[in-house]
Amino acid sequence: MKNTEKHPEYIISATKDFSEATNKSQLDSAKAMYIGPKSHIYTEFKKLSTLTGQPRADLGRQLNNYKNVLDQLYRSALDRISGGSDFEPIDMSQPKSYKSIANFGHKHPTSQILSDSYDIFTGLGFAIVDSDEIETDWYNFEALNMPETHPAREMQDTFYIEGSKINLVPRTHTSGTQIRFMENNKPPFKIVVPGRVFRNEDEDATHIWSFYQLEGLVVGEGVSVADLKGTLLRVVRGLLGPEADIRFRASYFPYTEPSVELDCKYQGKWLELGGAGMVHPQVLLNGGIDPSIYTGFAFGWGVERLANIKYGLTDLRELWRPRFSFMEQF
Ligand code: FA5
Repeated sequence: MKNTEKHPEYIISATKDFSEATNKSQLDSAKAMYIGPKSHIYTEFKKLSTLTGQPRADLGRQLNNYKNVLDQLYRSALDRISGGSDFEPIDMSQPKSYKSIANFGHKHPTSQILSDSYDIFTGLGFAIVDSDEIETDWYNFEALNMPETHPAREMQDTFYIEGSKINLVPRTHTSGTQIRFMENNKPPFKIVVPGRVFRNEDEDATHIWSFYQLEGLVVGEGVSVADLKGTLLRVVRGLLGPEADIRFRASYFPYTEPSVELDCKYQGKWLELGGAGMVHPQVLLNGGIDPSIYTGFAFGWGVERLANIKYGLTDLRELWRPRFSFMEQF
């Protein structure tokens, strides 16, 4: 472009804006305004398609000249601001940028309760045992003193697997692992078994159709109700804080005798956390353990119910809905 040529208005204001830009963000705005897809020169280029012959060639040449001027203005401003690089200079010794990565995610509240529980239980000498989510009718019910017609089966509304020859069920609780572990290990032992369980529930704020339980089993000589009570109080207060208001309530499970429920006061009401009791002698026998020598206690609580209290939730169902705005609160 010759110096004598009269520049259009947008070239004059681009010269001013690019030369006055003092940082990358001002430069980016100027770039968007003068050479971006919504810029004046782009609109002008589009007009070429409506022309033919000499007028098209003339306008094309003129617009290309202006475009070169604008590109040059941009490049020299970029050189001045950031030494020619399209990126802001980064000081790699600064931890700031890593901080934003560290804040990017966190554990799900259910996983957080589980890992806090592992810390406390392993500190008390418990081992953590893995288990399967699909169970046979024998381990889920029969070996726990719940034969086919036992009314206690009603309490755990079960998804049965159609056509399964060995009566498989998505397990309704983690208690079947008690038998599996006893069959393969000699007392004394102390274990916890985390895992997902499934029930054909009508969902509400405290009931979901699939949730996590944490099962516990302790078997040895002279294990007593005092051990059961002391362990549960220690762990639940460790998880929820020493001020947690906890009570034991007499209950019934076919596989423990005596049996209790563990409740915690939450928002003025008692919320059931889990069941527990001394392992029934027949259950010890079903696991191959002599009840005349050994006694034991067992418990199983709902992990989401603990999360409910610890994180002040009002509806358990939120925990398994894919809503980032909810999860980001933790
Ligand atoms: C049982 O599942 C027994 N197996 C617990 C047990 C283990 C007793 C060992 C004795 C010895 P229950 O059905 O009450 O018990 O469930 C235990 C806990 O799981 C409940 O107290 C509650 O915290 C949680 N829970 C039960 N149903 C749901 C549900 N639908 N949604 C969320 N949590 C639930």
